[in-house]
Amino acid sequence: MRTLSLISFLFFLLQSAYAQNALPIYKDSKAPIEKRITDLVAKMTLEEKILQLNQYTFGLNNNPNNMGEAIKDVPPGIGSLIYFGSDPAVRNLMQKKAMEGTRLGIPILFGFDVIHGYRTIYPISLAQACSWNPDLVEKACAVAAKEAKLSGIDWTFSPMIDVARDARWGRISEGYGEDPYTNAVFGVATVQGYQGKSLTDPYSIAACLKHFVGYGESEGGRDYRYSDISAQSLWETYLPPYEACVEAGAQTLMSAFNDISGIPATANHYTLTDILKTRWKHDGFVVSDWDAVAQLINQGVATNRKEAGLKAFMAGVEMDMSDKIYQENFQQLVLEKKIPMDKIDDAVSRILRVKFRLGLFDQPYTTVVEESARYLQPESKAIAQQLAAESMVLLKNQNRTLPLASSVKNIAVIGPMAYSKIDLKGAWADSGNEKDIESILEGFQKEFKNTVSIKSAKGCDFEGTNESGFQEAIALANQSDVVIVCLGEKKGWSGENASRSTIALPAIQEKLIMALKKTGKPLVLVLSNGRPLELVRIEPLADAIVEMWQPGNEGGSALAGIISGRINPSAKLSVTFPRTTGQIPVYYNMRPAARKGTQGNYQDIPTEPLYWFGHGLSYTTFTYDNVKLSSEKIRKTDKLIAEVTVTNSGKMTGKETALWFISDPVSTISRPMKELKFFEKKEIRAGANTTFKFEIDPMRDLSYPDANGNRILEAGEFFLQVDGQKIRFELVD
Ligand code: GLC
Repeated sequence: MRTLSLISFLFFLLQSAYAQNALPIYKDSKAPIEKRITDLVAKMTLEEKILQLNQYTFGLNNNPNNMGEAIKDVPPGIGSLIYFGSDPAVRNLMQKKAMEGTRLGIPILFGFDVIHGYRTIYPISLAQACSWNPDLVEKACAVAAKEAKLSGIDWTFSPMIDVARDARWGRISEGYGEDPYTNAVFGVATVQGYQGKSLTDPYSIAACLKHFVGYGESEGGRDYRYSDISAQSLWETYLPPYEACVEAGAQTLMSAFNDISGIPATANHYTLTDILKTRWKHDGFVVSDWDAVAQLINQGVATNRKEAGLKAFMAGVEMDMSDKIYQENFQQLVLEKKIPMDKIDDAVSRILRVKFRLGLFDQPYTTVVEESARYLQPESKAIAQQLAAESMVLLKNQNRTLPLASSVKNIAVIGPMAYSKIDLKGAWADSGNEKDIESILEGFQKEFKNTVSIKSAKGCDFEGTNESGFQEAIALANQSDVVIVCLGEKKGWSGENASRSTIALPAIQEKLIMALKKTGKPLVLVLSNGRPLELVRIEPLADAIVEMWQPGNEGGSALAGIISGRINPSAKLSVTFPRTTGQIPVYYNMRPAARKGTQGNYQDIPTEPLYWFGHGLSYTTFTYDNVKLSSEKIRKTDKLIAEVTVTNSGKMTGKETALWFISDPVSTISRPMKELKFFEKKEIRAGANTTFKFEIDPMRDLSYPDANGNRILEAGEFFLQVDGQKIRFELVD
């Protein structure tokens, strides 16, 4: 008996010794993530939990719209930091304080706005969508993720997938245009590019869908404004890109500044919890936009910071960016039983879940490599240049002005945009370096080398009234065979807090091209801008127009390649260009008017916009023949195959995108005149042809959401449209 008790005593001693030295479950990389979360949350104090719900800035904040004091004493138990530096060693020092200087060693999540590249800057999102090449966008985002990860970033506040139809709104540059399906496809490609095959892959970073939801509807195109969004529009226009990206595994979302018909997006339980968490079962977390919790006071739904924090958190915002409201008030709110502990635990679990999925508990530090190995690799630059080239839209090409004929020996590159580098970068590319950007002039000098004389003149500034440079510009134009007129917007004229009352270029720029027109020389207008522009006065003056958008580092070469004919332009607009600012909003998928023809349109301008969504020219010609359907009548459970044969009937190989639209002319509710449901881009050699195919799934492609988000599929007549050709079919019960 005595031996037995001795053995069991010894066993007890061994077991408790083992227990004390054994790795806690949350630190065991082999344990299931959900068990690690449960184990850790059970160990955390309320103070430790609340700190996880906060995000501060770290490093010198260079965002002019969000100036906050540089945080000196960052608490190492903080949930997340916006890292404005790019040195992984500095990030690792801060992470070490969290891992070794706190009781439980919970890693910090470092975030940053990696929007269209980190150091290898590629085109703005609005331009990317004009490429109709999501695979290429995914590759570009993978480059951005790798460069960001090697700089100490685990999480990017991207993609922005806010459908926008008001070009006065500067942030139209940051999304993928006016169409929900386009935003969904490119949003998914971006999420996949950032998050890779697995979040624990060495160069994967977490994506953040923003700004949830309806920010693009900001009244009058003014930023941070009221957005009147019906339940029908919410489900039909603004939610679909988010649903697709949540489905694709996006780990986080950011709540928007705007309110949704009176209830701010950052305090909107319906969108943040009922839809996102309950219906879509999103198990990551939501971070507020910068100071958006505090701004609930300005929006008139909270009397003080404490109430604002309570409203945002109970609506479904797990992490508070920058205003420290959660940290300041949640101990008290839990004490007052206004915030239940299980709500705190759920929010902390969501944040920890993303950190565990990223592998931060097991690999908390960034591998430090030389800058030369981190950034601007040749293959990265090649991707950026290809995306820039495939994003530039040939809007006009009268008398085949482009590509330039071999007889052209003297080119004048004129205009304020000819020399600019920083303005080709576009909004939100602050981790990029101006010295890495190739200007338009540099691109031409490289492209044409010694074969053609390239001379330049600025002509005028971007704005102002100084015409003193006109004479030099005109004299240069007179000595040249062709004039490349380089106009557009400065970097700061689009992006956040960059609303403009007119989308026309400043008068001085219009005056310059008018003056150059008088020389009688062929004019090629090149535009670099972050929004659709009002071109109604200058479009007739140009023989050719190339919309180059804000192409990033490699835009100069890409543009010169298009002008020379080395590259055949293949882009098509992802957003409609209104004829005038007064025509806003005008977009391709409007609902039909009560009266046909010109009735009800503006009396003082033509009804049509200048360029529709989907417009874009090539140096070759593509003809669409033999559009056919596998049947004229289908049941709701059938599939319908649509095909079209596209021939490259020109002399130059080119890439063509087939855009497939569906129309539902009669339905219980008025439906858009047509809706993009599929697209595909292919290269077709000169003289060859290929077949584009679209498999129509009735529930996916013919149904619509009602005001509660239920899919409604109604039998009746439908039309399929491709290249303007319409073909009828019927859906039967
Ligand atoms: C900004 C922007 C948001 C950005 C965030 C962090 O105010 O609205 O898009 O990600 O703050 O910089």
